[in-house]
Amino acid sequence: MTDILTVDNLSVTDNAGNTLLQPASFTISRYRTLGIVGESGSGKSLMAKAIMGLLPAGLHAHGRVLFRGRDLLKNNKYQWQQTRGKDISLIIQDSMGAFDPLMTLKDQFIETLQYHTNINRDACFQLACQCLARVNIKVPEQKLTCLPHQLSGGQLQRMMIAMTLALKPSLVIADEPTTALDSITQSDILSQFKLLAAERQSTLVLISHDLGVVRNIADDIAVIYQGRIVEYQKTEFLWEAPQHSYTRFLLDTRKRLSLRFNTIMGRASHATSR
Ligand SMILES: Nc1ncnc2c1ncn2[C@@H]1O[C@H](COP(=O)(O)OP(=O)(O)O)[C@@H](O)[C@H]1O
Ligand SMILES: [Mg+2]
Repeated sequence: MTDILTVDNLSVTDNAGNTLLQPASFTISRYRTLGIVGESGSGKSLMAKAIMGLLPAGLHAHGRVLFRGRDLLKNNKYQWQQTRGKDISLIIQDSMGAFDPLMTLKDQFIETLQYHTNINRDACFQLACQCLARVNIKVPEQKLTCLPHQLSGGQLQRMMIAMTLALKPSLVIADEPTTALDSITQSDILSQFKLLAAERQSTLVLISHDLGVVRNIADDIAVIYQGRIVEYQKTEFLWEAPQHSYTRFLLDTRKRLSLRFNTIMGRASHATSR
């Protein structure tokens, strides 16, 4: 199994010297989907931003983030432009904010693809349509003529996923990509996301506050609690034999939810089995 990214003692501090993210170390293997789970405020987004070199002013990353043998934390501005999008991509919750409101989606799609590749406009358009169809955007040619505000939140999130994966990045970090959407749309989009990522040979990191969401997608799960990774396991081991009390708490909450569902639906309880 090839390693794709190694995070080595990565921590985040602020100007006052407070540590917001405790030193974290883990390795992401090619084509193994990693889930990062933790409650709101636990440090998930800081970790993603630190890996991407996108921490806000006043926050500082320490340690090493090794990608293809290079420490990304040593990147200059130009090197980051080369790395982001093409090698490593970040998908955030609020896609609306990521698009230019005054430009058609087609132009944004094509501009992004042309910046990173040397394929011509027509080929870019074809690729855009292909990727959009794979995330279930109906009549992509027509949707691409829209401005961002003309699409729903779910459609924009699909656009963002398609645009990101069109570039075939080695690694995609998706930070709560579907949290703003209803749960049926969420699981729909995530399964298409995972399929398209595999097709485009991208490795996926999925960040969520919801263990249930991550469990269906991830091969491995890192649990983060109060700025610290408290557990890192293969998904099935974590589910069967959680090691940390916080992971057990997350699992119990989950199981209580499905127990309640089963009770309401008059079903026998399967809540403690898989
Ligand atoms: N720009 C910032 N300056 C200072 N503290 C921050 C900043 N951004 C986030 N934090 C703090 O770092 C912690 C982790 O935040 P974050 O990574 O956004 O959490 P999560 O994504 O898990 O909800 C929180 O306590 C938050 O208040
Ligand atoms: Mg966050």
